[in-house]
Amino acid sequence: MNDQAGALRQIIANIKGQRARTPGTGARVVVVTSGKGGVGKTNVTVNLALALSRKGLRVLIFDADFGLANVDVVLGVTPAYDLAHVVRHRGDIRDAVCDGPYGVRFISGGSGVQELIRLSAGQLADLMDNLLQLDDMADVVLLDTGAGISDHILSMVGAAQEVVVVTTPEPTSIMDAYALIKFLTARAESGPRVRLVVNRADSESEAADTLRKVAAVVRLYLRTEIEEMGFILSDPAVSKAVRLQRPFVLSFPQSAAARNIETLAWRFMGTEPERRPGLRAFFTRMAGR
Ligand SMILES: Nc1ncnc2c1ncn2[C@@H]1O[C@H](COP(=O)(O)OP(=O)(O)O)[C@@H](O)[C@H]1O
Ligand SMILES: [Mg+2]
Repeated sequence: MNDQAGALRQIIANIKGQRARTPGTGARVVVVTSGKGGVGKTNVTVNLALALSRKGLRVLIFDADFGLANVDVVLGVTPAYDLAHVVRHRGDIRDAVCDGPYGVRFISGGSGVQELIRLSAGQLADLMDNLLQLDDMADVVLLDTGAGISDHILSMVGAAQEVVVVTTPEPTSIMDAYALIKFLTARAESGPRVRLVVNRADSESEAADTLRKVAAVVRLYLRTEIEEMGFILSDPAVSKAVRLQRPFVLSFPQSAAARNIETLAWRFMGTEPERRPGLRAFFTRMAGR
């Protein structure tokens, strides 16, 4: 049998599996984060979301970076309310979800994500009911977060089933990615599945080199393996697209960066997590209740 056809069949079977999941299981919750800021998390999140959506998955982007929340800028759509508003006014979470290109859905956490930890039992119960509705809306939820090792971000990555760590080839970014991975792997069995994306590489070989470096320190000091998810080349199309407020997979579909995202999307769909507890379970773990 042709290998490529076999791989494709597997991916299609995965998509079907991801769409026709058994009732009660949630969406695939993926946290996109980095050690260092400004490495390209938001661009990776938004463009990956669009690529996945175009392949037939129902995708929700959750902007959980309350400091520098800017998914709206990169995506080019802004929801009327954020999660903080919904929590404060006991509203319906569906009012905070807006539609983006290719049917991608988008919700902004606002300060709501940070406030989760301080919610009363009643507020939390309301929120959890609301989150169940989001679980029904999406096959995949991509959470765009801030950078670094703050308590808030650590509680988020610690609660996730899957984490994508973005780094650039710069040594400072690699060191900060390592520190983050160290934290994640310290949680042993219950820890998330961690995958690395190298962004802004000058060449494919520089990307491979970066992956090798991170894998080597992780193996040496943490005695574990880091999975690679792929890379995105440095490409002027990325900042041009940000200025146009139209994601590069839409505005420059033939660009190197868009092709790299396409590869990332196929890789992502080719892997199916063992568990899919969904958003509600994610936030329950995150709120530590
Ligand atoms: N692959 C890339 N090639 C060129 N420039 C990039 C690339 N990725 C990111 N950038 C630049 O870096 C800026 C910050 O990216 P962003 O996704 O907002 O990072 P983060 O969310 O990690 O802070 C972008 O606006 C863009 O100008
Ligand atoms: Mg960002």
